[in-house]
Amino acid sequence: MSDRTDNGLAGGASQLPRHIAVIMDGNGRWAKKRGLPRTAGHTAGADSFRRAARYCRKLGVEYLTVYAFSTENWKRPAEEVAGIMKLLEQYLRQALRDMEKEKIRICIFGDLAPFSPELRQMCAECMERSKIYSGCQVNICLNYGGRDEIVRAAERWAADGCPALSEDVFSGYMWGGHIPDPDLLIRPGGEMRISNFLLWELAYAELYFSDVLWPDFDEKEFDKAIAAYRGRERRFGDVGEGKA
Ligand code: FPP
Repeated sequence: MSDRTDNGLAGGASQLPRHIAVIMDGNGRWAKKRGLPRTAGHTAGADSFRRAARYCRKLGVEYLTVYAFSTENWKRPAEEVAGIMKLLEQYLRQALRDMEKEKIRICIFGDLAPFSPELRQMCAECMERSKIYSGCQVNICLNYGGRDEIVRAAERWAADGCPALSEDVFSGYMWGGHIPDPDLLIRPGGEMRISNFLLWELAYAELYFSDVLWPDFDEKEFDKAIAAYRGRERRFGDVGEGKA
C-alpha cells in the first residue's frame, strides 16, 4: 500500500477516510458476558463485519481492511480455530451467492497455504468474481502478520531481481499492492495496541480505540470513529496549520 498523500487529506482530515482498517477485537468477551461459548462471539463478530462492510460501502469508504485471523491465532484451541474457519467459509459462500446485490470487491491478504483446499478455492473465486466491483474493496486478512508481510515482500522483491528501491516500489510487494494506506485504524475491545497488524501501512494512520466490543460496534460507533478522525489534524511530519 502507498500514496499516503494522494487522498487529498494532508494537513487536515475533514473528509471521509478513504481507507479504514479494523482490528475486530472483543468477540470472546462479548460471548463470556452472555455465558456463551467463544465461537458464539465470533459468529456475532462475523455479523458485525458484514454490517460494517455494507455501511462503509454506503458511506463511500473505498477500502475496508479487517484482521480476521492472524499468524498467531493458530495458538488458540483447535475448536475455536475450526469455528472461525467455518465462519469464513460461510461468509465466502454467502458472498459468492449475493455478489451482485452486495457489489463489494473482496481481496484476501495473507498466506492461504495452510487452509483447506475448499477455503482456498472459495477465496480465489471470490477475488476473481468480485474484481468487477469498484465501489468498496474489502480486504480480509487471513493468516496475516505485519512482520510476515514485510519479510514476504522482501522475498518477492529479491525474486524480482532486486529492482531499485523506494518506499513506493516496496509497497507494491505488500499484499495490497498500491492501494492507499489506511487513513484510520479502529480497534474496539479496549486494548491499545497494533498486534502485528499492517505494520508498514499504518505509518501515518490516525488511531481510534474504543471500549465497545466488536460485535456491538455498529453504524453509530463507526460514525463516532469517523467524527473523531475528522477532528484530527494530519501533518505527515510537517508543521501544523498556523504553526509555520
Ligand atoms: C479477536 O477477538 C477476534 C478474532 C481473533 C477473530 C475474528 C473473526 C471473526 C470476526 C469472524 C470471521 C471473520 C469474517 C471476515 C467472516 P477475541 O476473540 O480475541 O476477543 P477477546 O479479546 O474478547 O477474547
